[in-house]
Amino acid sequence: DKGNYRHFMQKEIYEQPEVIGHTLSRYLNLNKLCTTLPKGTSVDFAALDRLVISACGTAFYAGLIGKYWFEKYARIPVDIDIASEFRYREMPVKAGDLALFISQSGETADTLASLRYCKQQGMRIGAVVNVPESTIAREADVVFPTVAGAEIGVASTKAFTCQLSVLASLAIHAGRARGVLSAEREAELVRMLGEVPAYAVKALKVEKDLEKLSQPLSKSNHALYLGRGTNFPLAMEGALKLKEISYIHAEGYAAGELKHGPIALIDESMPVIVVAPHDEIFEKTVSNVQEVAARGGRVILITDARGAAEAGINAWKTIVMPDVPEIAAPIIHAIPVQLLAYHTAVFMGTDVDQPRNLAKSVTVE
Ligand code: F6R
Repeated sequence: DKGNYRHFMQKEIYEQPEVIGHTLSRYLNLNKLCTTLPKGTSVDFAALDRLVISACGTAFYAGLIGKYWFEKYARIPVDIDIASEFRYREMPVKAGDLALFISQSGETADTLASLRYCKQQGMRIGAVVNVPESTIAREADVVFPTVAGAEIGVASTKAFTCQLSVLASLAIHAGRARGVLSAEREAELVRMLGEVPAYAVKALKVEKDLEKLSQPLSKSNHALYLGRGTNFPLAMEGALKLKEISYIHAEGYAAGELKHGPIALIDESMPVIVVAPHDEIFEKTVSNVQEVAARGGRVILITDARGAAEAGINAWKTIVMPDVPEIAAPIIHAIPVQLLAYHTAVFMGTDVDQPRNLAKSVTVE
């Protein structure tokens, strides 16, 4: 039931504050301000030499953001690959190390095959899944549930932000277990993460501004998405969302890679969507984007109030997001890229919930 929403995708975007809250409640103790693993799960993060992550599509982008978090907050080296490549790579792995598979459906064929490969090698198998009775959940040693509820729209939205919520919680938990984070730092990060549902409510308020961009964006045959750090996977996620529901060709690039090739694409007809809240690497992103603006590219800057004030870029449009702490930023900035793709597709009249050629659950290789 779509309720008052026009599409399941829009409904699912709006469910995010609630389902992120449900998911976080399994991993955070907001009274004691510490992380907790779901009942019955245990992982000795202190003993890990390495973490291996594999997934497909949007779930893979969640894993990429997870890599930044596990490396930064827990100092665990992370090896990550898309499942269709991972399974044939014959990667050397260490028995006993943890392999983490991320999947909304829990049925994706390549992800399942990668899981079975790691299991054969004697690895411990963890799964971040949304469907508890799925094959991937059943075959994993440890299940980290997302509590997104049924996701009907083919384009993944709420499952993605719930996956991010789990990965952020696990990274903090691992950081504490490995002695990287103090109890005070853990408490601070948990408090920040606990605010994500409230930030998400605020983030949804940019919908009208993004809707205004749908008409001009629909006139483009191409779009480029840029970001650095955790905003780089978000740039790829934004491009994937736009491609799959509006059929506009889009690419997500690391902002620093621009000058190594793709800047040749920039002219007055190229929309460039930049995900850049004011963080440690904001200045670096800005200098890349200045090169885009100088070549006439139409910059859509998704940032926060401080970023908007300090960017000094002649942006075509600036979307001002709520101010959020760094750990919350990737989850919150997923929302505007979802809404931009959604409204562009609605304006173009595509079948938003059932885009052509796509299936919700990819059980073939
Ligand atoms: C994109 C999308 C897909 C899935 C991918 C993995 O919006 O939905 O890229 O993320 O097919 O599916 P799951 O998570 O079910 O393994």
